[in-house]
Amino acid sequence: MRAVQASFVCSALLPKDFPQDKRPEFAFVGRSNVGKSSLLNTLLHRKELARTSGKPGKTQTINFFDVDGECYFVDLPGYGYARVSKAVKEEWGRRMTDYLRDREALRMVALLVDARHEPSDSDLNMLEILEQSEKPTLIVATKFDKVKRSLRQKHIKIVREGLGLDTDALVIPFSSVTAEGVREIWEVIRDIKDGK
Ligand code: GTP
Ligand code: MG
Repeated sequence: MRAVQASFVCSALLPKDFPQDKRPEFAFVGRSNVGKSSLLNTLLHRKELARTSGKPGKTQTINFFDVDGECYFVDLPGYGYARVSKAVKEEWGRRMTDYLRDREALRMVALLVDARHEPSDSDLNMLEILEQSEKPTLIVATKFDKVKRSLRQKHIKIVREGLGLDTDALVIPFSSVTAEGVREIWEVIRDIKDGK
C-alpha cells in the first residue's frame, strides 16, 4: 500500500475559518460513535490523528486533515448524540448541513452506518440532505468485525434496505480493527480525485 502523508490542518465551524485553497475535500458523516474518526485514521495509517473515544460526542467541530498536500479529509461531529444541550445540537446540525450543502470543494461524502444495526431515522435524514446536495455519496457499514461471518450478507442487506437503496447499490463493509474495506474506500476516493 502506498504511504500517505497526513496532518491536522484546522478545526472550525464557520466557512470563514475553513481552508481557502479549494483543494478537493472528502468528508465522513454518521451517528455519534459510528467510527468516523477511526475510519479516517485507518485510511491514513495513523493511530490518533483524528481523536477517537469510546464515548459518543468526541468530535465537536469540523476538522480538516491535509492528505499528501493534494486534498483534505474532513472529520465531522456525529449526529444523534443526546448528552449535549438542544441548542448545541441545533448549532452543530446547522453548521454541518451548511457545510454539506454549500461547500464547493466537497467532492464526496462517506455516510457511515453501524453494520450491526438497522439505519436510524437520523441516518435517513442525513441521506436526504446528501441527496439534496447532489454530491457523490458512499455508504460504508462500519464495525464489520463485530458481525458474525454467517450474518454478514444479511447485515449488508439490512443496511441497504433500511436506507432505501437499490439492491445493487454499493455498500462497503469496513472495520478499523481488521482494516477490511480500506482498499475499496481508497479506490473510490482516488477515482473521484483523479476525475475518473
Ligand atoms: P464521534 O466523534 O463521537 O461522533 O464518534 P466517531 O464516529 O468519530 O467514532 P470513533 O471513531 O471515535 O469511534 C467510537 C468508538 O468505536 C471507539 O471506541 C472506537 O474504538 C470504536 N470503533 C470504531 N471503529 C470500530 C471498528 O471498526 N470496530 C470496532 N470493533 N470498534 C470500532
Ligand atoms: Mg469522531
